[in-house]
Amino acid sequence: MVQKPASEMINGVLRIKWWKYRYVVLAALVVNVVLVNHFFFDSSFTEFIRPPPPPGSEAALGQKPAPPPNGAIPPKPSLASEPAVAEPTYSYTPPAPLQEVMALDKVPPTAPRKLSLADYDFNGPYIGWPLARACNETKWQPGLVFVCDNNSGGIGNIRNFILTCIRYGIEAGASGIIMPRIQRRSEENLANIFTTGFQPFGYFFDEKHFTDSMAEFCPQMKIYNDTDHFPHADKKKEAKEFYPKDLNVDLDGCDGRGVNRHLDQFRTKFDAWAVKFENQPSVERPLTLRFKWATFFEWPIMRDGPEFAATFGDLLRIRKDVQELAAYTIMEMAKFAGEEADITKAPPKYLGVHLRTESDALGFWPNFKTQSEGYMKQAETHKLKHAYIASGNATEGHRFGEIAMKNVGLNVTSKVDLLKGEKLKQLTDLSWDQQALVDFLVLSKSTQFTGCSFSSFAMNIAIKRHLMTDGIFSRKWISPGDAFSTLVGRFESWYGDWMFMYECMWP
Ligand SMILES: *[C@@H]1O[C@H](CO)[C@@H](O)[C@H](O)[C@H]1NC(C)=O
Ligand SMILES: *[C@@H]1O[C@H](CO)[C@@H](O)[C@H](O)[C@H]1NC(C)=O
Ligand SMILES: *[C@@H]1O[C@H](CO)[C@@H](O)[C@H](O)[C@H]1NC(C)=O
Ligand SMILES: *[C@@H]1O[C@H](CO)[C@@H](O)[C@H](O)[C@H]1NC(C)=O
Ligand SMILES: *[C@@H]1O[C@H](CO)[C@@H](O)[C@H](O)[C@H]1NC(C)=O
Repeated sequence: MVQKPASEMINGVLRIKWWKYRYVVLAALVVNVVLVNHFFFDSSFTEFIRPPPPPGSEAALGQKPAPPPNGAIPPKPSLASEPAVAEPTYSYTPPAPLQEVMALDKVPPTAPRKLSLADYDFNGPYIGWPLARACNETKWQPGLVFVCDNNSGGIGNIRNFILTCIRYGIEAGASGIIMPRIQRRSEENLANIFTTGFQPFGYFFDEKHFTDSMAEFCPQMKIYNDTDHFPHADKKKEAKEFYPKDLNVDLDGCDGRGVNRHLDQFRTKFDAWAVKFENQPSVERPLTLRFKWATFFEWPIMRDGPEFAATFGDLLRIRKDVQELAAYTIMEMAKFAGEEADITKAPPKYLGVHLRTESDALGFWPNFKTQSEGYMKQAETHKLKHAYIASGNATEGHRFGEIAMKNVGLNVTSKVDLLKGEKLKQLTDLSWDQQALVDFLVLSKSTQFTGCSFSSFAMNIAIKRHLMTDGIFSRKWISPGDAFSTLVGRFESWYGDWMFMYECMWP
């Protein structure tokens, strides 16, 4: 049915039936006047329209809408939370004050806190209310336990495996999760990312931050240390090699690996799957669910809104000792760049380079020539004379250093050149992927960052630095970069499960 314009319908009502409905219309008018005024003097509404806090005040810094305590759900700003207003049966012009309110709404309400290059803080305060809101919206299923350990590779991939698994877990209403573990890569053959068995969460991440944040902001999802640590674990049924995309039976002409559409139906389909395969969880008969490899880069982050997209990944912070080693490395970088090495001052000016040409790099990635030319161009564009290079291959790193000095006078160094004595030993005692965490942090604090378009490691740094554009209001990152980072080499296609790296990487 084609809807008539409201004014036409109202005119019709007034013309034909006005007299018949005169008392109804009169009552509606009175109710509206009362509601509009109630609305104006209601304290929660005035709370919403008050002007943004002055810059630098706690409310302005904290990014969270004041005044609820950290993690509480912010007051609903929308009119929807007000009592239902009677159907308007006439047209009216909003009174002047309401028009002013609408004008105020044309800009974002507060200045969000942004990541900063002016300090040595790699994280800032954890903003948990978007997670709390998502967890509060979920219908939880007792006895459903997610096992998020079928991951592999470097930090960029592992972070996304774990976050994707937790995000699906929230959607499925998993009231339990086993503490995620990390599969260790072979040191002899870097391309072999599955061999050396499981490492604990703390191999990469700050475990206390993760468990504290989950306990405070998503207490509905309990974390268990091991697969038999939840109630009635002996009665559990195990769903192994679960693949969310398999729930989309109708490929509709798509490549099966690409089908991550209709996420809004995931829960419905998941519940139907549980019924069909007699996998309905209960406290007495729990169900554990482990993903097939590789379930990652398939949850479009913007689906959850920018606040969630910007903050969810901060559940996974790099472990504390590595943060300290990275801060120390940046101080050595300051000396190298002829600046003051003082942790209370801003980090020095340097180009951060991620050269990705190690032996496990794939044939169709941008090669050494493309990458090195692109990186030198960035040094010139931003007039930087010192660079920190991250490369898993020291030979290749030095090769770039020589070329860059000769061509653009760029003085290049790396963690192994900067660190000495005990600190160097602390570094070399770490595994290949753990050492890369130092690079991850040092690069994230560089004045300008540049890396290879195909690397999830480089992309993760660029996307995290993108939060400097607008904090929790940051809009999408767009290839090849923003004011802080530039990725080199065209990203045209990936294969299989990696197709949605740009859309699906949480900063
Ligand atoms: C969760 O949502 C409900 C209903 O939307 C709301 O009443 C409740 O206050 C919320 N809980 C928290 C902790 O904010
Ligand atoms: C879980 O492990 C942590 C440390 O990894 C330990 O402190 C805690 O006591 C363990 N909890 C249980 C229930 O085993
Ligand atoms: C990870 O997934 C692969 C492919 O589905 C499977 O063969 C393997 O057993 C899984 N690993 C674990 C630890 O479940
Ligand atoms: C690069 O910087 C280091 C440390 O400041 C300095 O010792 C070295 O001479 C520089 N190299 C060149 C070629 O200028
Ligand atoms: C390092 O690069 C050299 C070529 O410059 C190559 O021969 C060697 O295999 C690489 N090693 C690793 C571990 O990537």
